[in-house]
Amino acid sequence: MTITVTAATGNLGRLAIQALLDQGVPAGDIVAAVRSPEKAADLAAQGVQVREADYSKPETLSTALAGTDKLLLISGSEVGQRIPQHTNVVNAAVAAGVSLIVYTSALRADTADLPVAPDHKATEEIIRSSGLPYVFLRNGWYLENYTENLAPALEHGAILGSAGDGKVSAATRADYAAAAAAVLTGDGPTNTAYELGGDQAFTMSELAAEVAKQSGKEVAYRDLPAADYAQALVGFGLPEVYAEVLAGCDVSVSKGELFVDTGDLTRLIARPTTPLSTAVATALA
Ligand SMILES: NC(=O)c1ccc[n+]([C@@H]2O[C@H](COP(=O)([O-])OP(=O)(O)OC[C@H]3O[C@@H](n4cnc5c(N)ncnc54)[C@H](OP(=O)(O)O)[C@@H]3O)[C@@H](O)[C@H]2O)c1
Repeated sequence: MTITVTAATGNLGRLAIQALLDQGVPAGDIVAAVRSPEKAADLAAQGVQVREADYSKPETLSTALAGTDKLLLISGSEVGQRIPQHTNVVNAAVAAGVSLIVYTSALRADTADLPVAPDHKATEEIIRSSGLPYVFLRNGWYLENYTENLAPALEHGAILGSAGDGKVSAATRADYAAAAAAVLTGDGPTNTAYELGGDQAFTMSELAAEVAKQSGKEVAYRDLPAADYAQALVGFGLPEVYAEVLAGCDVSVSKGELFVDTGDLTRLIARPTTPLSTAVATALA
């Protein structure tokens, strides 16, 4: 059985391939479908089949997906182009006759106000209308969004945001990847959506307190109006369009849109999710 993972040179894609290998899938049965094959030499060295697959080049997708039984479509990172890009992948998946398409979506993609939800909602609709059996992995926020870049918080003693007292059920990419591998290798229900997040939700003040506790430095959360937060992000060098999306996402956090207590993630991976304290410790190490 061939399992194909798209965007396999990205953070989540690499972890998904590792999770498949950890679950005993032979490397030769895994296809890493990547925009940049030159970045995938390490995967090829492990025996994983590396094929070019650019979401914007349909001709690469039909070749890349040939022979695929199960497909993990990891959402693209080029905001504004994702709907046509994902459409190209779904069309290639239909042509290849895949038996399952697993798509990394966003929490409550069909109902949330989350700024990134419309692309995911549209993609889910495209997949539903393709007639292919599907599973939507509606991933919550990555814990790494909060822990990957702690240096400015430690330097200035502040974590900025517009999340108010909203709780976020973030989980590590590795936990989401393990869930993807479990779905791809399991025989669970199809035509279903999982709402995925970490077991322990936290507020931004709780995040700041954890960072302060573990680093021994003073770190506090400073809540800003969304426009001011976006401005601050632009000041840190972020393009305006991304700054506004990030600030808008924080407003969604403040409204509880990134909180989830379904337990879907912990059930799929059959263990507790990685807690905030561990992610902070890893980041500070
Ligand atoms: N839940 C969250 O908190 C969260 C946060 C950020 C993003 N996301 C979403 O989750 C996805 C995976 O996350 P990640 O951390 O793995 O992101 P990442 O490390 O930035 O990886 C993105 C991947 O998408 C690939 N890609 C971009 N455009 C492509 C195209 N036209 N054709 C084929 N591949 C393309 C990139 O290929 P190259 O290696 O060639 O650049 C890269 O491998 C992101 O793309 C985004 O949709 C979720």
